[in-house]
Amino acid sequence: MSKRLQRRNSDQRHTLRIERNNTERPIELVQITDSHLGGQPGEELLGMDTDQSLAHVIDLIEAERPSAELLLATGDISNGGSPASYLRFQQLTGHLAPHILWLPGNHDALPAMQQTFAGDPALGRNIEVGNWQIIMLNSATPGEVGGNFSAGELEFLQHCLETTEAEHVLLCMHHHPIPIGCDWLDGQQVRNADAFFALVDQFSSVRGILWGHIHQELDQQRNSVSLMATPSSCIQFAANSPDFKLARLNPGYRWLSLHADGAIDTGISRVTGVEFDIDYEHSSGY
Ligand SMILES: [Fe+2]
Repeated sequence: MSKRLQRRNSDQRHTLRIERNNTERPIELVQITDSHLGGQPGEELLGMDTDQSLAHVIDLIEAERPSAELLLATGDISNGGSPASYLRFQQLTGHLAPHILWLPGNHDALPAMQQTFAGDPALGRNIEVGNWQIIMLNSATPGEVGGNFSAGELEFLQHCLETTEAEHVLLCMHHHPIPIGCDWLDGQQVRNADAFFALVDQFSSVRGILWGHIHQELDQQRNSVSLMATPSSCIQFAANSPDFKLARLNPGYRWLSLHADGAIDTGISRVTGVEFDIDYEHSSGY
């Protein structure tokens, strides 16, 4: 292994500490996911202008969550992985919270993300805030649509869980680790979810697992862990559909309040009063 790679690997393990002004309040997070921004402003996904829909979601967050402390972007930030799309996302969303964290999805290009954030902690993966640890996982494999954790990624997760001094843990990733009832999407579920959960189950500190990719809301409990997925900031996929199908639901985001006792309050919010131009009859995927 080269010296450079060794350093990068050890940097990833390094815990970033986010200092808070008011430690009495719960930690306020917002999650934006699957923005699918194009290389140029105004590019469309199934007829939808993904910059325009993101702008509406940003307006909503500004109105509803002015005291967000941390913005999580959980993958498919870009539709094609162009540096210009990451720069635009950064410029459009950077003011929503004092701290931002990104992780890659299957449409993203990690090298372009790293280029956008040279020297910036936005791609930090092991973050301590209050008595919580937020671990940003990479479930994407270049060239593949579906999710999987590499052996190195599971080893990274184990290291973070074993060494954290925080009492409570939130895991963030792009792909879904459980089947969600859409056959076409369930083929893209994290392939080695069994190994992932076998690891997670050893640590009672894990309180929540949060992801994107499925472009729909999901709130479930597994043992005492909250499982959460979030509407995209652009097109929405229909729940419980065996085949690819769009839902007539507006874009949205998720808010989370992480309490010092380990409780998570959370919910989603969708844009209202706007009718988006979308090719709803499109039936062959995206
Ligand atoms: Fe995705």
